[in-house]
Amino acid sequence: MADKIEVSGFRHFFRTEIGSVQATGTIDLSIKAGEFVTLVGPSGCGKTTLLKAIAGFLTPSEGNILCDGIPVRGPGRERGVVFQELAILPWRTVRRNIGHGLEIARVPKAEREATVARLIGLMGLGGFEDRYPHELSGGMRQRVAVARTWAADPEVILMDEPFAAVDAMTRLTLQEELGRLCAATRKTVFFITHSVDEAVFLADRVLVMTRRPGTIKAELEIPRSASGGRDWDSFTSDPLMQKIAGDVMHLVHAERV
Ligand SMILES: Nc1ncnc2c1ncn2[C@@H]1O[C@H](COP(=O)(O)OP(=O)(O)OP(=O)(O)O)[C@@H](O)[C@H]1O
Ligand SMILES: [Mg+2]
Repeated sequence: MADKIEVSGFRHFFRTEIGSVQATGTIDLSIKAGEFVTLVGPSGCGKTTLLKAIAGFLTPSEGNILCDGIPVRGPGRERGVVFQELAILPWRTVRRNIGHGLEIARVPKAEREATVARLIGLMGLGGFEDRYPHELSGGMRQRVAVARTWAADPEVILMDEPFAAVDAMTRLTLQEELGRLCAATRKTVFFITHSVDEAVFLADRVLVMTRRPGTIKAELEIPRSASGGRDWDSFTSDPLMQKIAGDVMHLVHAERV
């Protein structure tokens, strides 16, 4: 597989009125096309900074970021982002939120409706197409946000703790749904989380960062079933998965601030 994203010699400093903050150490990483990479590390180590740079929202102080071999100079349609803070429009129904990017891109109505209907099915939102965000639960709103980013069909999806604000039960469902969605669409995904289980459950490869200024201290390949999908029952009863999750937990705990 070719490298979809390539980060080399990345380092970032924030300049503030009271001086400069070094957000990250030197980071090199590559993500292959179709790969699901998760990133864990202590709070403040520079995860969001790295993701924003890949998204093109922030210009690195040092280093280069390439997407398909082309330098990232700003946000682009081939890179979709899902942030922790909800980014859905309260005055639009579920259907029209998910189709929003497609409307902006002037995708023909029939094609737009087909894409939206497929995502509503994949994300378990059937029956709620014409509801407004305030009529949904937090987990459902989060699913709408994920579906909206997916609908625009970016090649790369960058997710920064997208499930952090939902309750633990809903989160398990969302993680399984995301796993299914990925298996069905083969996107390249870069996903930040504080949850070690979530990181191992979803990933083809887990990256662990040191404390700030963060660098990548470890990388673990996660063997996946041929179907690509996962469910929590088999994950929790699989000794290999539990062993890997334990290893990642140790690596993360050693970086506690
Ligand atoms: N706009 C900014 N101006 C100044 N400093 C910033 C800015 N954004 C982030 N920082 C600093 O850079 C460091 C890394 O921040 P970042 O948000 O990347 O961390 P993180 O790993 O995503 O943390 P968390 O897990 O808490 O979300 C932190 O020390 C933070 O205080
Ligand atoms: Mg962050």
